[in-house]
Amino acid sequence: MTKEQSEALFQRGLKVLVEGVSSASRGPATFGGAPRYMSHGAGARLYDVDGRDYIDWMMAFGALPLGHAHPKVVETITREVARGTHFATALEVEVEVAEMLVALLPHVDKVRFANTGTEAAMAAFRLARGHTGRRKIIKFEGHYHGWWDAVLVNTNPLPPTMLGHPNDPIRIPDSSGIPEEAWKDTIVVRWNDFDALERAMALHGRDAACVVTEGVMSNMGVIPPKPGYLNRMQELCHQYGALFYLDETVTGFRLAAGGAAELYGLSPDIVTYGKALGGGLPMAMIGGRNEIMAGLEWGKVLHFGTHNAGRLALHLTKVMLETMLADNQAGFARIKELGLKMAAEMRQVAKASNRHGMVVQGVNSMFQIFFTKKEEIADYRDFCTHVDRTKFRDFALRLMDKGIYMNPSATLHSLSSIAHTEADIAATARAMAEVLEEMP
Ligand SMILES: Cc1ncc(COP(=O)(O)O)c(C=O)c1O
Repeated sequence: MTKEQSEALFQRGLKVLVEGVSSASRGPATFGGAPRYMSHGAGARLYDVDGRDYIDWMMAFGALPLGHAHPKVVETITREVARGTHFATALEVEVEVAEMLVALLPHVDKVRFANTGTEAAMAAFRLARGHTGRRKIIKFEGHYHGWWDAVLVNTNPLPPTMLGHPNDPIRIPDSSGIPEEAWKDTIVVRWNDFDALERAMALHGRDAACVVTEGVMSNMGVIPPKPGYLNRMQELCHQYGALFYLDETVTGFRLAAGGAAELYGLSPDIVTYGKALGGGLPMAMIGGRNEIMAGLEWGKVLHFGTHNAGRLALHLTKVMLETMLADNQAGFARIKELGLKMAAEMRQVAKASNRHGMVVQGVNSMFQIFFTKKEEIADYRDFCTHVDRTKFRDFALRLMDKGIYMNPSATLHSLSSIAHTEADIAATARAMAEVLEEMP
């Protein structure tokens, strides 16, 4: 198969873009060399500049529950772009979309729109600190809440000898250029561990502005919460007066219409959403009850943004919600059905091959394959110690050669959209069986 055009673009890109791309997860750090340069997408397919096509299981890191170029998206953008791109003024569609969101999410009385998950999280942390007058943030090992200094701590896999005692994880920022003051009030706790949580809350709960968690660990593959774990976290937050902040950037408008909060029966104090919310354009939001969200009023906790509530993105958010919610939320039921089917097929293929230690973990429309000798990857420490990431990259790159696109990083995950079909699942399973036979 030819990759000539991608190679040529990569060489050109290297001269003018850092690593040839705009985010490490798209370039050589993840691909080991030139990535595939994509030219267009349609439905569940991506097409590269060398004329190859792929079944796309990455879906822009979860930003596309409707798939690529959904007819309603194309129609809406075409209509609205002719009326102006962005005004940075109050908008009717802003009110309409906020009304839809408040009607859908029982824990949300008010929303504030932002552009990206990172930005929404930054505002949410500031709001939590402003609302409580407390400084500490309790976060979990392996959880990612965007690239802001205060929470960019223990978000990447570490060598097992650098993890520290489970009661007291060694705190390691994931970047140079982060001053110690930025994360001095950030407490890192082992996730999915009831005892570690109780202990951390007894030690820090009274000083904590919030406890922040992903609903499903989504940046170490896919690791579901243990039964009752998030509910206990919510209880402990109430007990110690810390806000319970559920980061739904990945899980929102994906695991269910009401995200992880609905799936696990939670009522978080603060939530942030991004990715799927915008249906393909940058859109994020902070949500919560009236008394907490009132903290964002002028003169209290500041949150600004030239591009907040972009009108094109709001129109797409509206299209995404209308499409996914139609016929009694059939869109959410469909992506769940497809995600569960794909994960089940993968388990079958892995079992039939029996050449590699593998487990497939998933929650509804999200799934990931781990090359491991363990039967389950239950937390970040399992991931760091027992998952063969090099082998996953080899697997994903071989799949790519067969027209199946998954991000080659084992820390990420795959996702279904309403554009996928049972035929895509069958084609993916066939390619996977071949790759497992070929792999050393
Ligand atoms: C759980 C979670 N929160 C926040 C973010 C940051 O979102 P964004 O990339 O839109 O800034 C991400 C991104 O992957 C995420 O997975």
